Amino acid sequence: MSATARKRAPMADDIRAAKGGTPLVSLTAYTTPMAQMMDAHCDFVLVGDSVGMVLHGLPSTLGVTMEMMIMHGQAVARGLTSAMMVIDMPFGSYEESPQQAFANAAQLMAETNAGAVKLEGGVAMAETIAFLVARGIPVMAHIGLTPQSINTLGGYKVQGRGDARTVLRDDAQAVSDAGAFAVVLEKVPAGLADEVTAQIAIPTIGIGASSGCDGQILVVDDMLGLFTAFKAKFVKRYAHLGDDGEAAIAAYAQEVRERTFPAQEHTFADEVPAK
Ligand code: KIV
Repeated sequence: MSATARKRAPMADDIRAAKGGTPLVSLTAYTTPMAQMMDAHCDFVLVGDSVGMVLHGLPSTLGVTMEMMIMHGQAVARGLTSAMMVIDMPFGSYEESPQQAFANAAQLMAETNAGAVKLEGGVAMAETIAFLVARGIPVMAHIGLTPQSINTLGGYKVQGRGDARTVLRDDAQAVSDAGAFAVVLEKVPAGLADEVTAQIAIPTIGIGASSGCDGQILVVDDMLGLFTAFKAKFVKRYAHLGDDGEAAIAAYAQEVRERTFPAQEHTFADEVPAK
């Protein structure tokens, strides 16, 4: 799907129909300016719950709330005209029951104008996915490394190795059969990601998976070098804005302290209209 050829933002069905075609491009976004920067280049933009770690300094995504997702979702929506917006359901907002998931997904969509929600889980979430889809809420699934389950997964490890291959294949099949329009595969061996991509009817969106997936997603602050607390092996930095930004701040601080900061040419009188 090329953003320049589009007359409107893609919807869930357009993303589903891109299976096997030109790879789908996606990034996370949390603010209006970042959304504006990627709007013309992405098929969909994810308001990820990674916002908790990337912008709020949380140690994991577990502390992210509905209020945070709504606030960042509204900011991102203001910056998009041609990319679809998908929004993450935060930890604790959907796992209890399909009814709880519907109430929170409906609130996220109504208050942010997102075109779909994303939730983590495979077989265990299939019933919830089917419940939401049957009630008008498009769902993107997320399997493999699911960061909201970090305490049961035992760390940010590669998933789907050895016997766990079958678990991943079953999860992928379950979310596809339940009606998800796409599925994120996070930190899955490339061969297995390729097998799953061939196996299921919906697009696979890789993050640390395989270039053979139907699309890719990255956390934007990772690929721009803005988030430097840690770097996953699979992340390629396309820029080093964190280092550049710190160097710029250091240069400013030095100029201020040495009184070499550029002279201010204007006077107070310039700013106050004469009566
Ligand atoms: O929250 C997030 O940023 C995500 C992506 C890593 C897929 O879920």
